[in-house]
This record gives sequence, C-alpha cells and structure tokens, in this order.
Amino acid sequence: MRVLVTGGCGYIGTHTVLQLVTAGHDVVVVDDFSNASPAVIPRLEELADRPIPVHRFTLEDRARTDHLLATERVDAVIHFAGFKAVGESVAHPISYYRNNIGATLSLLEAMSAHDVHRLVFSSSATVYGADATPPFTEDLPTSATNPYGWTKVMIEQIMRDLAVSDPQWRIALLRYFNPVGAHPSGRIGEDPSGIPNNLLPFIAQVAVGRRDRLLIFGDDYDTVDGTGVRDFIHVDDLALGHVAALEALGHRDEAVNTWNLGTGQGTSVRQLLRAFEKACGRELPYAVAPRRPGDIATSYADPTRAHRDLRWEATRSIDDICASAWAWQSANPHGYQA
Ligand code: WQD
Repeated sequence: MRVLVTGGCGYIGTHTVLQLVTAGHDVVVVDDFSNASPAVIPRLEELADRPIPVHRFTLEDRARTDHLLATERVDAVIHFAGFKAVGESVAHPISYYRNNIGATLSLLEAMSAHDVHRLVFSSSATVYGADATPPFTEDLPTSATNPYGWTKVMIEQIMRDLAVSDPQWRIALLRYFNPVGAHPSGRIGEDPSGIPNNLLPFIAQVAVGRRDRLLIFGDDYDTVDGTGVRDFIHVDDLALGHVAALEALGHRDEAVNTWNLGTGQGTSVRQLLRAFEKACGRELPYAVAPRRPGDIATSYADPTRAHRDLRWEATRSIDDICASAWAWQSANPHGYQA
C-alpha cells in the first residue's frame, strides 16, 4: 500500500516508516518538525535504501492538508502527528487542544474528501486514566488526568463517531504503553528536545554524561521495589504492531478496532536502571525524589486482543531495549544535532 505517515520524522514515526518499507509498502511523510529534526531524513533514506518524500507543514493548515491528499494518492494514513508532553499540556492546554484535535479534524476531512478511509491512530495507554487496575484491557472506560490525555480520549471518540456516520471507515486505535529503545543500527532513536520527561531517554543521557544523575520519582509505591512499574515496549515491536494493524484493517468487519500495544509485562524504574547499567557497563548515579504529580504506581497491558487479531506480539526484551538505546545514545550523544 501507499501510506501517508503524519509525524513520520518523529521517534515512533521514523521507526514505523522503516518497518513499512521493509514490509514492502510505499511511504510519504508529512511533519511540521515541531518535535523532530530534518537531520533524520538522510539517515532514514540510508536505512530504507530509497528516497522518502517529506512534506513540511502542520496539518492544522486545512488547505495544504487537502492539497496533500488530493495530490499524493494514498491508500491509508498512519497518524502520529501531535504534541505529547504531559507536563507541557497542563501548562499550555489550548495549544494542545488546537494542535492535536485541530490537526486531526483537518486530516479526517481531507481523507473523507479524497476517499481515503483506512486509518491507524497513535493513541496511548494514558486513556486508561488513574483508577484502572492493571493489566489494562481495551474495554475499560477511558478518561484522563491531563490535557494531553484528554486529546487522546477525545480523538478516539471523534473517530468512533465518524465511523458511525460513514461505514466505509476502517480505523485502528492503537494504545501504546511505554515506547523505548531504538533501531539496532544506532542511526535513529529517541531525541527529546530539552530535558527528557520520560525515564529511558533521561537514563541514557546520564549514561552519556549529559545529565548528572537520575531522579527516581518516588520509591514508596505499592510495587515490587517501591518504584513505578511500567510496560516498556521496544519501539521496533511497536512499529511492527502498526504494520500488522494497517494490514489487518483490510479484512476487518468492525469499523473501529482498539488494540493495546504492550508486552503485558511490568518493569520497575529501579529494574530498568539496573538493566541499563548492564548495557552501558557502569553504575549510574541516582537519587530518590518526591513522587511526580499525576503518576500512577503500576501500568501494563493485557495484549491478548492484539495477539489474537493481529497475530502480533512484542518479542524484544528489556536487555534488547537497553542495548539498543545505549547504542543510539553513545553513537549520538547530542541526538541528531551534531
Ligand atoms: C515512567 C516511570 C515515573 C522520569 C508517559 C505518558 C504516556 C506516554 C509515555 C506519550 C514513572 C518514572 C520518569 C524520571 C522517574 N507518552 N520516572 N524519573 O509517565 O509512564 O508515560 O510517557 O504517549 O502517555 O503518560 O512515562 O517515562 O515519564 O515515566 O522516576 O526522570 O518512570 O515516575 O514511574 P509515563 P515516563
């Protein structure tokens, strides 16, 4: 298929572009580079061994989005584009609602206008809210504790309503747990701008000398060792889940299909830190700090439905994750900027 990947120059987007090409699909990318670097494009083309067309604009621009769908004849869209920092969304809710929801509405209108009805959406386990008991299953009610999470809850609802209005739609809502790691080449990886919000990129930056020490946000949770427990999934397993979902939509009767993309295993902050020390070959400095507001103790997936419907499962281990993240970070201490 010819697939438009929005946000295709971002962390998960680039890894998914590679797996799409490997699976024999053609790819077109649109990205506004608000959270990605154009420096990734030549690396992506090197790894894909082919040119990757990239359009640079925001999907909030309805006219350009419509023109893109009118001129680039695509069979499907994988929609990653969106702001995704929880803390930032609390400080700047309007920009999150305008960008994440506005861009999505613009994309959906353009897809409808140009007869493209196959869509994979980048949702998040954050929609399970703060009160669910893990392992999380797709039939749980959704809610959020921050504007970023609400944009995911609301966009899922918009897509369900759209499918009711037009049965031509075939939509996959993919709920990610904690994407981590990097392509084994070490040429692409996670390159957060500023101080990393997320755990693994922060640990990797400590290991490469960019940060003094890791702060563990709370060690008094009711978990195996008191630190937070999460379902860390290798980004290449996640990318393969997108390819499987995209291809499955061609033979699904359901208009909207919700799938958890997670390993089904929980790993604590302290366990991940130890695994990364093994990968980088040295102890890493840390201190225990107060809990981070909004954090839950434990989150991990029940991935049964994706295993059954997509014949997909995560196969890469925590050691694979840490080895690949260290290969990326040690070869690119400052990410894509030199
Ligand atoms: C994981 C654990 C922290 C940083 C978020 C979003 C989610 C998705 C993934 C976008 C927690 C602890 C972290 C640090 C720490 N994002 N931690 N020190 O919060 O599970 O999920 O990112 O889709 O939507 O909610 O991921 O990596 O921020 O935190 O101790 O410097 O690591 O307390 O227990 P999280 P995270």
